[in-house]
Amino acid sequence: MKGIILAGGNGSRLHPLTSVVTKQLLPVYDKPMIHYPLATLILAGIKDILIICKKGDDKLFKKLLGTGSEYGIKIQYKIQDNPNGIPEAFILGEEFIGDDSVCLALGDNIFHGHGLPELLQRGAEFVNTGGGAVIFGHHVKNPERYGIVKQGKWGKILNIEEKPKRPKSNCAVVGLYMYDNSVIEIAKNLKPSGRGETEITDVNREYLQNKKLRLIKFGRGYSWFDTGVADALLNASNYVQAIQNRQGLKISCIEETAHYM
Ligand code: DAU
Repeated sequence: MKGIILAGGNGSRLHPLTSVVTKQLLPVYDKPMIHYPLATLILAGIKDILIICKKGDDKLFKKLLGTGSEYGIKIQYKIQDNPNGIPEAFILGEEFIGDDSVCLALGDNIFHGHGLPELLQRGAEFVNTGGGAVIFGHHVKNPERYGIVKQGKWGKILNIEEKPKRPKSNCAVVGLYMYDNSVIEIAKNLKPSGRGETEITDVNREYLQNKKLRLIKFGRGYSWFDTGVADALLNASNYVQAIQNRQGLKISCIEETAHYM
């Protein structure tokens, strides 16, 4: 399975913080934000990673992470000219993905919790052996801000909606997605939504219609931050500081993660 980190976008909800510095290079306590999704992909067992970012930012990311050889992985870079939607990652990454499956991590999503590597590797295993897609869910109190998945009896997925005004559940779809190779064709055939972008939720809907979508839920013991707004960015920094200082163990330290894997 290949890995893509989507690290572009305008970061408009964080202006003026992101007026001249891209969001994914902002600090989350003691590391640049991109270290967190990078550690997530490494923990999923992924070694071949494409970072997609805005023009000009590739130089900065390269300066920070290089070719990845220091961490025993391979990192490549690709420019997204405009933020046309999350699924564009699969079109820009077509050559990189080749015939493989792919895991997409949004550059502003942070995960932490006991057993995370096993959970991620289970998702990758599902896709690599059975095809289809795996999405991850997390309970939130503000579901109108996210992609929301509704399950029925026996955990069957009934529907997924993007930022619904009247959410049918509190289970948010987090910014980490695993797909078989057909995601490239699905992405190519998407139409932009009302907000002028293609939506990752429409990709997931397509898999759902084909009965090929699986949901893995992060339980209560997991923490998830989408650091796209100022409060969440501060909360994530405070969380990392509190846990690291109490335990003396780092969260998403890429050197340690790479060594562990
Ligand atoms: O964080 C999880 C949520 O992420 C999901 O629950 C939603 O279903 C999903 O649509 C997404 O919602 P957001 O409103 O948080 O997406 P946002 O537009 O902020 O984009 C997420 C990240 O991807 C952000 O770091 C910027 C980057 N991005 C986004 C777009 C649309 C790009 O690099 N290029 C793009 O074209």
